[in-house]
Amino acid sequence: MDREPAPCALVFEGVDKGFTDRRSARVPVLDTIDLEIAPGSCVSILGPSGSGKSTLLRLAAGLESLDAQDAGLVSVGGRPPGDPSVRSALVFQAYSTFPWLTAEQNLALALKQAGVVKAERREAVRGHLANVRLLEHARQFPDRLSGGQRQRLAFACAIARQPELLLLDEPMGALDTLTREHLQLELLKLRRLLRPTTVLVTHDLAEAVLLGERVILLSNRPARILLDLDAAAGKPWLTNPEMGTETLESKVEAYRRGSTLLSLTNALRDALTQDGRGNGR
Ligand SMILES: Nc1ncnc2c1ncn2[C@@H]1O[C@H](COP(=O)(O)OP(=O)(O)OP(=O)(O)O)[C@@H](O)[C@H]1O
Ligand SMILES: [Mg+2]
Repeated sequence: MDREPAPCALVFEGVDKGFTDRRSARVPVLDTIDLEIAPGSCVSILGPSGSGKSTLLRLAAGLESLDAQDAGLVSVGGRPPGDPSVRSALVFQAYSTFPWLTAEQNLALALKQAGVVKAERREAVRGHLANVRLLEHARQFPDRLSGGQRQRLAFACAIARQPELLLLDEPMGALDTLTREHLQLELLKLRRLLRPTTVLVTHDLAEAVLLGERVILLSNRPARILLDLDAAAGKPWLTNPEMGTETLESKVEAYRRGSTLLSLTNALRDALTQDGRGNGR
């Protein structure tokens, strides 16, 4: 391993971002976004379709940049997002694995990219596959995996890269409820081992509240921040990273059924309704 990844702050400062359409008209997408995400924390982003959530993530990943007509600044641990020293991993709305590599080869590549030496890779691959319950599928290609299995593999690969910044764009959108709940738990478990600064875009209010220590609600395009909700209360796994797996599972289950989740999702639903045009689910 070349170095321990250190989680870093992700900062958006007065970001205005727009695109130019086919008739050369400027389409504003992000409007004065000021957002500081603390190192190692997990923040959820909610907002109507087309509001600019993926654009926000793409800016953080360095896949999109601010041009002369835009304004503001995006930085990752004080560096520009596209800087080669920034170790980020992005799980897209669609699946993010290499279809020509088997599950174990996908993981081995991710580990190689993280600087894990060859002699240690084999065992690390097995550990990561076991974490997401895919050991028996090690030799399968992604197109032979179910949607949920493929997404678990994408998660495992993202984590294996040991990112300092983990960007998740609706990674669980296409999954059935139980698989989705299982993956949510998996993400919380994985975050005990490694705490990358994480941004999760989702359309699901309960998922945003469960996984995010903060929930940022965006307005319709051009997106402004409508609400910045503190969602850290009632989550003992945040203050006790050593918590055992069974305890974590029961605490998460209690949180899912408890009043904190309900009152926070209601607050988000109210804000979306007040915005008048929200499409929160
Ligand atoms: N490269 C681009 N060129 C032109 N317009 C773009 C580009 N990327 C995004 N847009 C526009 O910016 C707006 C925001 O897109 P974005 O993908 O960020 O929305 P989103 O909030 O992620 O939506 P969804 O919830 O449906 O995924 C949309 O109107 C989209 O058409
Ligand atoms: Mg999107």
